[in-house]
Amino acid sequence: MKLFIDDANIDAIKELIEYYPIDGVTTNPSILAKAKKDPRETLLAIRKAIGDDMIIFAQAVDLSYEGMIQDAHMIMELLGKNTVVKIPSTPTGFKAIKALKKEGITTCGTVVYTPMQAYLAAKAGASYVAPYVNRIDNMGYDGVAIVKQIQDILETNNMDCEVLAASFKNSQQVLELCEYGVANATCAADVIKAFVKNPAIDAAVDDFVSDFQSLTGKTSMCALD
Ligand code: G3P
Repeated sequence: MKLFIDDANIDAIKELIEYYPIDGVTTNPSILAKAKKDPRETLLAIRKAIGDDMIIFAQAVDLSYEGMIQDAHMIMELLGKNTVVKIPSTPTGFKAIKALKKEGITTCGTVVYTPMQAYLAAKAGASYVAPYVNRIDNMGYDGVAIVKQIQDILETNNMDCEVLAASFKNSQQVLELCEYGVANATCAADVIKAFVKNPAIDAAVDDFVSDFQSLTGKTSMCALD
């Protein structure tokens, strides 16, 4: 499963990219709003932080068909190659996805709450579909089960589209989808860090050093005489 950072905090992005096996960054207008800067400035700072070879997702904001196409062009011009334009999976969005596919622009059908919505975005030509796991959970449905259903639909119908599971609030939701073979997940920085946040891990790592130190008086192999 590829792992994306669903965040626009540049310090958090730099830290995660340095330490974790990250595949790229996803954003949406709400995430960009949290940065409290011109969104173009934030997106360019993310591009600079991750380099040209990593994927960045940025969303078209305008709700009209023409506006979506113009937003997509502007995003591509701003961020260059390895950019995916997120388009809401609505009827207008499907029309935009179809047109952008013809232009060779890679899209992600986002704001996905139902399996058939994902199917339509994929059929329109989206390379990714982004179901919102936690938001679906909060509506009283099973977000993980719906993502698995979407994955099955894409596979059964041989669609050239991958799931980008989004909106996670805990590691368990990500774990279940990783186990199921979902191709991509995007998580906020704190959710990614929580994958290895466990007092037992820290205690075991500390024990190894202290046992080594009680044997040798040193805290590293290279410090040995
Ligand atoms: O980018 C879309 C999705 O990740 C939203 O997540 O946490 O706002 O439900 P959240």
